[in-house]
Amino acid sequence: MVRFSVYSRLAVVVLFAVAAATSDKRQSIDDNQVCTTDIEGHQVCYPRLFNATDEFQAVFPGQDLPPGLHVQINMANGERLAKLMAPEPNKDLALTVPESIPVDTPSDNSRQRGFGAGYKPAAAEGFQAHIDLVVELSTSTDRSRTDFLHNTLLAMEDLVHDTRYADELIHRSTGATSLLRLSDANTLWPANIRQLASVVLGTALQNNPEAQESLYVDGALPLFIDNVVRENDARALGKHIFALSALVRGNNRALAEFAGESLRNLRTLRVVGDRKVRDMAEVRVVRLVEDVLNSELHPDFLESAEDMKKVFAASANAWCSELADRLLRELAKPGAEYYERPVAYAHALQVLRSQYPDNCSVSNELQHLAQNKATQLGNDESAADYRQALSELI
Ligand SMILES: *[C@@H]1O[C@H](CO)[C@@H](O)[C@H](O)[C@H]1NC(C)=O
Ligand SMILES: *[C@@H]1O[C@H](CO)[C@@H](O)[C@H](O)[C@H]1NC(C)=O
Repeated sequence: MVRFSVYSRLAVVVLFAVAAATSDKRQSIDDNQVCTTDIEGHQVCYPRLFNATDEFQAVFPGQDLPPGLHVQINMANGERLAKLMAPEPNKDLALTVPESIPVDTPSDNSRQRGFGAGYKPAAAEGFQAHIDLVVELSTSTDRSRTDFLHNTLLAMEDLVHDTRYADELIHRSTGATSLLRLSDANTLWPANIRQLASVVLGTALQNNPEAQESLYVDGALPLFIDNVVRENDARALGKHIFALSALVRGNNRALAEFAGESLRNLRTLRVVGDRKVRDMAEVRVVRLVEDVLNSELHPDFLESAEDMKKVFAASANAWCSELADRLLRELAKPGAEYYERPVAYAHALQVLRSQYPDNCSVSNELQHLAQNKATQLGNDESAADYRQALSELI
C-alpha cells in the first residue's frame, strides 16, 4: 500500500509533465482533488482517486488508479479508460493465484543472486548516484545533460545484470517509474535515451520474479504498454517490447492482464525507421504475441480458468487473421531477400493454428502461396529457415 501510494504520486507527475507540455496548468486544492484549467481557462476539479465501476470510464490526468483495474488505452488519442475487472475471471484468478508465483527460470540465462561477482561497495555507491541522476533528470526539461544521462544508463545496464543492483533499482520505487518516464516517447527524450531506459528496466526484470511481481503489483503494466504503443522509433520500440516482455514473462497475473485487448491492440502498431530495424521491431512484436499466446508456456491455472481460455482464444483468433494477412502480402512479393518477418509470421501462425485449432486456421490460398514460395526458394541454403517455416504451414 505504501509503495502504491508512492507510485501513484509518480504517475501523477508523469501525467503532469504531459499536461504541462500541452499548456494545461494544474494545481492541487487539497489532497483529495485534482484541479486543472481547461483550454478556455475554466477551473475543473475532480477526485484524485479514480472511482471504478463496471463500465469503462475515462481516467483524468493526475487521477490515481487503485490496483487491479482493467485499464484500456484508446489507441487513437492515448486516453486511458478503466473499470473494475470482470468479476468472474477476477474471482477465478484470485482464487487460483498461488502464493508464490511459479516461474520457469531458463538455465541459459541465469542471474547472479545476492552479492554476485559484480558487486562491490564502491560500485554500489556509484549505482545509487546513477539512480539519483535518473530520478532527477526524468522530471526535468533540461536536456543539456543528455550525454551524461546516456552514459549513466549504459553503466546501469551493465550493473543490473546482477540481481543485487536490479533489486536495488526496483525497490527504490522512484527508480523504475523514472526509467519508465525516460522511455516514454511523450516526454520527448531522444530515442537513444528512451531505448536505453527500457534496456535497463528489462534487464533488471529479466528472470527476476520478485522484481516483476513488485512492479506488477504497483500497477506498472499499463505504463509499459503505453510506452510500446506511443513509440515511433523502431529501435526504441524493440527495447520497450523487451522490457514489457521481461515484466510479463512467467508472471501469471501480468500475463492474464496483458493477453486480452492490449495484445490485440498491438496489431495496429505501425513502425517507422530504416528497413532492417523496422523489421526487427515487427519481429519482436510477433514473437511477444507468440510467447504470450503459447499455451505450452502457460501455467496450469491459466489454462484451467475458463474465462482466461476465452481471452486467449479471442486474441489467438485476431492475431491469426492478422498474421495470415501479413504473410499473404509477403508471399505476394517477388523474390525473398529479407526473410525475418515472413519467418516470424509463419512460425507464429503455426503455433496459433496448432494450439487454437477452433480459432485459427490457414486458408487454402495461403497454403498454396506458401507452397509456391517454398518451391521458388529451391535449395537455397540461406533461405532454409524460411522454407522450413513455410513447409510447416502446408
Ligand atoms: C462511485 O460511483 C458509484 C456509482 O456511480 C457511486 O454510487 C459512488 O457514490 C461513487 N463514489 C464516490 C466516492 O464518488
Ligand atoms: C474459439 O473457438 C470456440 C470453439 O469453437 C468458439 O466457441 C469461440 O467463439 C471462438 N472464439 C473466437 C474469438 O473465435
